[in-house]
Amino acid sequence: MKICCIGAGYVGGPTMAMIAKKCKDVTVTVVDLNQSRIDKWNSDDLPVYEPGLLEIVKEARGKNLFFSTEIDQAIKDADVIFISVNTPTKLYGSGKGKAADLKYIELCARNIAKVGGGDKIVVEKSTVPVRTAQMVKEILSEANNTHSYEVLSNPEFLAEGTAIKDLENPDRVLIGGDSTDNGKKAIEKVVNLYAHWIDRKKIITTNLWSSELSKLTANAFLAQRISSINAISALCEATGADVDEVANAIGTDSRIGPKFLKSSVGFGGSCFQKDILNLSYLCKHFGLPEVANYWNQVVEMNEYQKSRFVQRIMDAMFNTVSGKSICIWGFAFKKDTNDARESPAISVCKRLLEEQANIRIYDPQVSKATIIESLSIDESDSRLTYCESAKEAAQGTHAIALLTEWEEFKKIDYDDVYSSMQKPAHFFDGRNLIDPDVLKHSGFRLSRIGKV
Ligand SMILES: NC(=O)c1ccc[n+]([C@@H]2O[C@H](COP(=O)([O-])OP(=O)(O)OC[C@H]3O[C@@H](n4cnc5c(N)ncnc54)[C@H](O)[C@@H]3O)[C@@H](O)[C@H]2O)c1
Repeated sequence: MKICCIGAGYVGGPTMAMIAKKCKDVTVTVVDLNQSRIDKWNSDDLPVYEPGLLEIVKEARGKNLFFSTEIDQAIKDADVIFISVNTPTKLYGSGKGKAADLKYIELCARNIAKVGGGDKIVVEKSTVPVRTAQMVKEILSEANNTHSYEVLSNPEFLAEGTAIKDLENPDRVLIGGDSTDNGKKAIEKVVNLYAHWIDRKKIITTNLWSSELSKLTANAFLAQRISSINAISALCEATGADVDEVANAIGTDSRIGPKFLKSSVGFGGSCFQKDILNLSYLCKHFGLPEVANYWNQVVEMNEYQKSRFVQRIMDAMFNTVSGKSICIWGFAFKKDTNDARESPAISVCKRLLEEQANIRIYDPQVSKATIIESLSIDESDSRLTYCESAKEAAQGTHAIALLTEWEEFKKIDYDDVYSSMQKPAHFFDGRNLIDPDVLKHSGFRLSRIGKV
């Protein structure tokens, strides 16, 4: 079998690397318009940082895993085509700021129709609004050839930072398709692919629309838990309850469960916000404004949490950070990734810059170029200093804001860091990651989410 994956991003790259590793009888070609991204996939400096990814890519690359910009050729040769391109929030026209921009999906469908090369199974791997497969089907049905196309939905549930673990041992794989004979055959083909390493009991098959909607729903539920505990964190601060104690107490209820109950400065990443906005937009479109408003509130609570965090910084630092220097630890939206898309660090830093603070940033994986682009500032902007270590970033600052839960921040010599800072030295733990006793012992004025 030959597979082509269009889109060599955070999903396409790791997912296809895992398929190539597990299915030695399958040839996998990942294609992208972005030449520099493909060049990186063909080097040891991969465009995506994920623990364990480089080893897997190196094992399969050049054998049954290929990265290329020869999109048409890869489409022509493939039996199965995964579409794994980005589906960002639309930034123009109708649905601006809410709907998913499906132009990249549509371009892929048109390209597949144009290129031809035999009967094909086309799989939506990207997260898309429910009924997108209808659009893909219609474009393919108008192709100027006699080939037949089956469209499936196979959304990806990996989490960045744990992508390899998630792909190797997923909670489930979801495949949606038509219940026609050809639809069933196509589903079976893709089921067989995953069954190379995943127990068939974990492979769920549904109709197309259920599969598409399940992905949006899963992200909405996950983000909702974060916003729920963050909402309670504000009440904890007002009342003297401790949010971690509350989370622990409720998480032991088996109906609630302990995961995704960690209060923080807020969720980020390229998916949660865009997918909830999209879900909410869909609800409005289908005449369900109450449902739309319900989900929209999850995003609003996240915005509130980020601004509340900056307000706490301001309050603790005598209502001004103007001219002060603030250290930012962690710029990615979570640990173990180099992805800074929609990271809460962006909002926090932008607000601090508006308040005329200087910021010194250290992140174990995010590049200076990404930080500058995310903050929409000039490379020469003297308010930002990019640092190579946590210790260097803290040097001479009035406060540290910890925004991502990288393990290395737990292992720092806090006495040493404290001694290099202006006094009083503040520490704002946006992840409740660091042992408060260690910090207090060092002399920091500590402020944590959901704690007084
Ligand atoms: N990042 C995640 O953790 C995650 C998890 C699950 C699902 N998803 C979903 O998967 C999809 C992809 O996400 P991502 O994070 O990998 O995005 P990404 O931006 O990292 O990668 C998308 C890639 O597609 C390429 N591309 C766009 N149009 C193209 C075209 N016409 N031909 C060839 N290449 C094209 C882009 O150049 C880019 O490299 C999105 O729908 C996202 O919502 C993402």
